[in-house]
Amino acid sequence: MPHINALLLENFRSYDSLRLESLESGLVLLTGANGAGKTNILEALSLLAPGKGLRNTSHKEWQKQGTEKPWVISALVTDDDNPVQIGTTWVPEKAKRVFHLNGAPTRTQEDVLALLNFTWLTPKEDRLFVDAASDRRRFYDRLVFQYDAAHAGRVRRFENAMRERNKILKEQGITNTTKAWLDSLEQQMAETACAIGASRQEHLRHLQDTHEKQRDTLGFSPAPTQYALHGYIETLLIDNPALQAEEIYRKALEQNRKSDRDDEATALGPHRTDFTSMLLTKNQPAPLCSTGEQKALLFGLLLAQAEALNIYKGIKPILLLDDVAAHLDADFRGNILKSLLRFGTQTWVSATGLDVLEPLPESFKHITVGSH
Ligand SMILES: Nc1ncnc2c1ncn2[C@@H]1O[C@H](COP(=O)(O)OP(=O)(O)OP(=O)(O)O)[C@@H](O)[C@H]1O
Ligand SMILES: [Mg+2]
Repeated sequence: MPHINALLLENFRSYDSLRLESLESGLVLLTGANGAGKTNILEALSLLAPGKGLRNTSHKEWQKQGTEKPWVISALVTDDDNPVQIGTTWVPEKAKRVFHLNGAPTRTQEDVLALLNFTWLTPKEDRLFVDAASDRRRFYDRLVFQYDAAHAGRVRRFENAMRERNKILKEQGITNTTKAWLDSLEQQMAETACAIGASRQEHLRHLQDTHEKQRDTLGFSPAPTQYALHGYIETLLIDNPALQAEEIYRKALEQNRKSDRDDEATALGPHRTDFTSMLLTKNQPAPLCSTGEQKALLFGLLLAQAEALNIYKGIKPILLLDDVAAHLDADFRGNILKSLLRFGTQTWVSATGLDVLEPLPESFKHITVGSH
């Protein structure tokens, strides 16, 4: 399983330079006062894999303020005893972020993803169940993307085609000249929508199966949850074979041209889908659950995602848990930390102090942030 053994940061966020070594433990606990730089370390780790990291930000924010020297994140990663140096930095001359493996530029980002993946939980996700459906959908699509790399491209293609269709309807209307154009965009939307819906559904089945198995294997019970997708496309795909669903959606788009033009929006499609969770012990939808119960649901989801990636893709993600202890009762906290140690993947946990994480498991690596 991939494991971070050493981490080096330069000119990244609050750090001029930081070196963390001897990180052989399966559980690394980062503690320090507010503003000490804990989240910055977890963010740096998340940026060792391609993407915008756990704060979903861009390189301008990563660059340490007050210096021109580009930020560097570098780590020694071992997987089955093979050490690999993985690095990423900003190259100003190319205005581009690059990745290195053992000092040589990588050919594709997939080379890095084949070695290193991260799954995280941060205070931002605390609002997942009560936020807008669009935030939840984006969150869920990121879970699918970890599992099926083509998913993000399909979502982008669908959204581009939808935007273009909305623009034509608004600016040029439905005329003989725009008809062929609209036909072709709607065909594209129907094809990509069904592929998006199918990927989302497949991942949902895997998450649910994994979650149910984990209730027997983890050594403690994550909150029993029923996951569901609520959306036009996903429902169509349950009731119809893919090609037929595609044709039904395409026709619906054609029929809705006038109303979509009046509303300046596309009424039907995968861009309206919601992902929901239900706490089964109380038959309670997640938004009605208590703060701690929602946190427990999030943990269950994180563990199911990490294990599903392992079972179905052979990927063992490193888990990053930023400031997650708040709202958890001691029993649950103890169980979570113990089960993470058994989980077989390296986990990094941040908190303001070790006392916040008690009861502590027998073994872990403790790093006090702010004393470097
Ligand atoms: N680009 C940057 N350049 C310089 N400093 C930055 C940059 N981005 C963030 N910081 C600073 O880094 C410091 C540490 O932030 P970080 O979020 O890691 O703290 P933390 O230890 O997680 O604190 P908390 O317990 O409050 O979550 C903050 O004071 C922040 O202002
Ligand atoms: Mg923080």
